[in-house]
Amino acid sequence: MRRSNIVLVGFMGAGKSVCGRLLARRLGRCFIETDDLIVSGEGRSIPEIFRDAGEARFRELEAETIESLKLKSGEVIATGGGMPCREGRMELLRELGTVVWLDGDVRELHARASRIGNRPMLEGRSMAEVEELYRSRQPYYRRAHITVDTTGIGADQVVARILAALRKSHAVRA
Ligand code: S3P
Repeated sequence: MRRSNIVLVGFMGAGKSVCGRLLARRLGRCFIETDDLIVSGEGRSIPEIFRDAGEARFRELEAETIESLKLKSGEVIATGGGMPCREGRMELLRELGTVVWLDGDVRELHARASRIGNRPMLEGRSMAEVEELYRSRQPYYRRAHITVDTTGIGADQVVARILAALRKSHAVRA
């Protein structure tokens, strides 16, 4: 059963937060970010969670967060870049509503994510290693209902593309 949420997935720097917020405004829906839920639940930042408890603990918190999302309906939900990338996760996200993958050129994604900073998964990784991480995640992202290519375009255009694709798939009214 679709719970009619719109769930944005994609690599770091894909614009899930910025576009998700814009999209929610356009549709008159609430916007939530899974990273924010984790940060408020833990009372510490994502880099602090990685530093103090490790990545494995962060991934457990992500799993718990997906469970809590089952109570949501009609919202726009931006996920952390690694959230869908474990066995079974994409299936759980697809049960929440329409899953939209914001894809793009990995170098562009990396450049955008590095500008904003605060990404433990990018720390100490070479470009080749980031590309490898992106490649290893693609099979999960590909299971989204809809893919939108963000290469070379701004947030407004990305949102227009998302809306067009959602209308086409009848996930939102025209
Ligand atoms: C992560 C992406 C981050 C955040 C955490 C781990 C990842 O979210 O969840 O730092 O594993 O790709 P963004 O995709 O919003 O940067």
